[in-house]
Amino acid sequence: MSGGVTCLSTIVEVRAALDEARARGARVGLVPTMGALHEGHCSLIRAARAENDVVVVSIFVNPTQFGPTEDFTKYPRDIGADVRVVDEAGGDLVFNPSAEEMYAGDHSTWVDVQGLTDGLCGRSRPGHFRGVCTVVTKLLAICQPERAYFGEKDAQQLAVIQRMARDLNTRTKIVACPIVREADGLAMSSRNIRLSPESRTQAPALNRALRVAQTLVAAGERRSSVVDKAIRATLAEAPLGEIDYVEIVGAENLTPVETIVGTCLIALAVRFGDVRLIDNTRVTA
Ligand code: PAF
Repeated sequence: MSGGVTCLSTIVEVRAALDEARARGARVGLVPTMGALHEGHCSLIRAARAENDVVVVSIFVNPTQFGPTEDFTKYPRDIGADVRVVDEAGGDLVFNPSAEEMYAGDHSTWVDVQGLTDGLCGRSRPGHFRGVCTVVTKLLAICQPERAYFGEKDAQQLAVIQRMARDLNTRTKIVACPIVREADGLAMSSRNIRLSPESRTQAPALNRALRVAQTLVAAGERRSSVVDKAIRATLAEAPLGEIDYVEIVGAENLTPVETIVGTCLIALAVRFGDVRLIDNTRVTA
């Protein structure tokens, strides 16, 4: 597994390759992705490279985490380009299974984290986290990594996976990596390339709104209602964006707070046509 990336598409092959690496004493790091890799993913791969001997990047557009009206079929896919990105970022192995490989036969087991998945994206995407948790559990079982890397842009996903790993006594350490942004502040996302030019121009309003919120909290504002209003006023500068949610929640339990005390997560979801963007920041008061 040196000198270029090895691409495998079956569970048997990836298990054999990683068992062989572990038998040599190698530590395995896993970066789960759905492809359409960008600089945000590269930062995860580089973090994995720095801490492990073998870096596996899974590329699988997981059908079970998309709702019936969501963008599963439109989700960008370019495995050739993705493998080049993995290579340049320092990954060793790409695991690119088919849906039949991952959900073979009469698949009937699901992993559901309760409570943390009720609000935010869980409210607007019913079943989404069940699909995410199930596929991540399967990827952890297949690759048995020492560490698995997730981005803080998907803050609820990260919190849910951390809880799942804790509750299921998973050996793998879940590693959180910071949000990577474009020069104009837009959080990097595989979905950004699907924005129309006009929407792309307006989309940095999400990050501006979060910065307005940070400034207010830093100046002593503690009322969520006031911060919420300021966020919405900034998002109004992006008239093509339709707000899905603006939420200020406790960073641990993800439930809405009226008063900002301790560490809170401010999270946004905004739709530009059929492209749904999310972003977030943490504030501490
Ligand atoms: O964040 C993603 O890209 C996906 O939700 C994940 C974690 C790879 C599971 O399909």
